[in-house]
Amino acid sequence: MSRASLPADDRTILVTGGAGYIGSHTAVALLERGHHVVIADNLANSSSQAVDAISRLTGKPLGFAQVDLTDLEATNDLFTSFPIDAVIHFAGLKAVGESVEHPLRYYRTNVLSMMNVLDAMATHEVFELVVSSSATVYGDPEMVPIPEDAPTGATNPYGRTKLMIEQMCGDLALTDPRWRITLLRYFNPAGAHPSGDLGEDPTGIPANLVPFVMQVAVGRRPQVQVFGTDYATPDGTGVRDYIHVIDLALGHVAALHRPDNGCKTYNLGTGTGASVLDVIRVAGHVSGVDIPYEVTERRAGDVAVSLADPTLANRELGWRADRTLEMVLRDAWRWQSRHPNGFND
Ligand code: UD1
Repeated sequence: MSRASLPADDRTILVTGGAGYIGSHTAVALLERGHHVVIADNLANSSSQAVDAISRLTGKPLGFAQVDLTDLEATNDLFTSFPIDAVIHFAGLKAVGESVEHPLRYYRTNVLSMMNVLDAMATHEVFELVVSSSATVYGDPEMVPIPEDAPTGATNPYGRTKLMIEQMCGDLALTDPRWRITLLRYFNPAGAHPSGDLGEDPTGIPANLVPFVMQVAVGRRPQVQVFGTDYATPDGTGVRDYIHVIDLALGHVAALHRPDNGCKTYNLGTGTGASVLDVIRVAGHVSGVDIPYEVTERRAGDVAVSLADPTLANRELGWRADRTLEMVLRDAWRWQSRHPNGFND
């Protein structure tokens, strides 16, 4: 979206999970727009070096609190310590496989921290909230591109925590007309800040395609496994809607300028699909590395095609994802090649 189209805004935004991948890029976008930013993060799955990078990239200071949002008292303290006007809630766990093995960990972390944030917001009369949700709530979609009113039905505990979070927000918004809650369903976030100094830093073996492909390109892993070539797609591999993390970050900034109250849901995606083999080919092109791969069995729970219908966000938030797959992979490669071991380099 065009940055010039939004007015300057110096409200203070609490960004929970702001040291993580999407939260950190959103913090940069908020600071660039003139907002003040306070990050609350327990650093369980993220690095304080991301917070340093945000400050370095924007040349602006920001608040940081190491907080566990499953602790209601600590969550309330944030609102007494900082003059918070609105909240963007990213904090949570997001690994599908892990959520199947440790469902309670997911329900406790994701659902309880959302409850506490909502509770503390109500107590302190802060009514504007943007929440990170996921296209995973659509389960195996009946049609693509997927509009927001498509049936939901998550297929794993992680997805169910996102659905519960959405439902909690919807219920709460009905209790007071001052609530303005925007639920953003992300498709496949990928890419990095164009500086190459802020990006995705997964712990362990990346579960997602783009960081895995990048780690192969940089020589950290021998080859990509392509999870199935027998899907009903043009080349038989899974098709996804890869959205540049900067476009996604700008979607959150746009959501903060939503004019109406109530709880509303928007897809954030490009509406354009790319297959696993497309990603490997374009990543090879931008990195100059011939990326080896082998075909393996399908991964349990994967769907053939997931593609956003982003019309509603285009129309009502004035937001559009304009960055291409090539830009996604070029920026991901810049980050990976400058920081082969993530923030540890
Ligand atoms: C996954 C999660 C989803 C989450 C999203 C964003 C699952 C089943 N779904 O979505 O809940 O919201 O990430 O974090 O984990 N692929 C390979 N080889 C790999 C990795 C992936 O071939 O090593 C394929 C997959 O089969 C899929 C595509 O690449 O077709 C994208 O996979 P991935 O990046 O994991 O995203 P999703 O599965 O769409």
